[in-house]
Amino acid sequence: MPGFSTRAIRAASRAPDVPQPPVNVPIYQTSTFEMADADELAELLGFERPGHSYSRYSNPTHAALEEALAELEGADAAVVTASGMAAMHAVVLSLLRSGDEIIAPRAVYGGMVGLIAAILERSGIGHRSVDTTDVAQVQAAVNDRTRLIWLETISNPTTAVADIETVSNLAHEHGVLVAVDNTFASPAVLNPLSLGADIVVHSLTKYIGGHSDLIGGAVIGAADRVAAARKVVINAGGNAAPFEAFLALRGLKTLALRMERHSANALAVAGALDGAPGVARVLYPGLASHPQHELAMRTFRNGMAGGMLAIELDGGREHGERFLSRIRVAVHATSLGSVETLVSHPASSSHRQLGKDELAAAGMSAGTMRVSIGIEDEADLIEDLVGAARPGT
Ligand SMILES: Cc1ncc(COP(=O)(O)O)c(C=O)c1O
Repeated sequence: MPGFSTRAIRAASRAPDVPQPPVNVPIYQTSTFEMADADELAELLGFERPGHSYSRYSNPTHAALEEALAELEGADAAVVTASGMAAMHAVVLSLLRSGDEIIAPRAVYGGMVGLIAAILERSGIGHRSVDTTDVAQVQAAVNDRTRLIWLETISNPTTAVADIETVSNLAHEHGVLVAVDNTFASPAVLNPLSLGADIVVHSLTKYIGGHSDLIGGAVIGAADRVAAARKVVINAGGNAAPFEAFLALRGLKTLALRMERHSANALAVAGALDGAPGVARVLYPGLASHPQHELAMRTFRNGMAGGMLAIELDGGREHGERFLSRIRVAVHATSLGSVETLVSHPASSSHRQLGKDELAAAGMSAGTMRVSIGIEDEADLIEDLVGAARPGT
């Protein structure tokens, strides 16, 4: 009979055979899977048979989340990643090589600016930053080196809404692909693939997780493009974690409800801030004054415009700092898309990579505040944010 240590390890490693499917997807917290023979491992590592070999390649909890995301974005396949940045990295490195070019919006999440500077530039991949809400600028930037156009459904933080359909038609005429970061909208508000985009990227950290308790990302699209992105994820080690995947699955179940409440609250708060003392401008796609309001209302599901808004305070950076010191309901933190209202100051956080001129080109100033409206009571949010924006000390 084997010794106690041997028996303990064997006894505690036996995964249960469960005849009734669990109502929730279990967390498969295992790095590796037992193989019957060498062929099985070789075939699994090559994705030539169904199953799992090693969790950097695939894992049942990841697979459940991938299937759910693919279904909700109307795609064949998805790969989940360690973060939204890992997803963006996988997309650009799977599609671009030295000598190629990417067109990116001028108003884009600062992480994209960082990815271009830290990874693409030194890999010999060129980029052009244009105002992608102006299709003529996109057209003028396309050349025979262009391989990919990057869009954000709703831009971070200025809330510019991309015309995905028009840009996708233009891109496809030139044999160029379109990737859309759908983080700010979430699949509950819009499905970019249905408008002609080729690839969707998410930071699961935001609305899909929804509770400020996970970091994750996803690449979603046609099976061959996702397989190419997965290859980068596997080889660069940007894989998701089973526990994060479990949390993201749990978040997905309430995404629709949360987006309804985020959207309703944000519309009410944006309306109250618009014209309030100390506020020069409010950017929210649900407001009639927003430059792409009509496009948003035509393409967003059920008139929802999401929970993100940008406020331009008329007193610049100092006013921004006073705003942050006055909030009592909202939380000063650098993420978004969660149940609690989060406020950040892009010039010193998400867009710190941008100089003054680049900030201006991206439609921001030192007084721009990014507000991610949560699902608290509307009246409390209005009192907190309108009060924090007032001028004077
Ligand atoms: C629009 C957008 N895309 C991608 C990311 C990156 O996501 P993560 O922090 O999960 O890497 C963020 C993060 O703020 C974001 O706002």
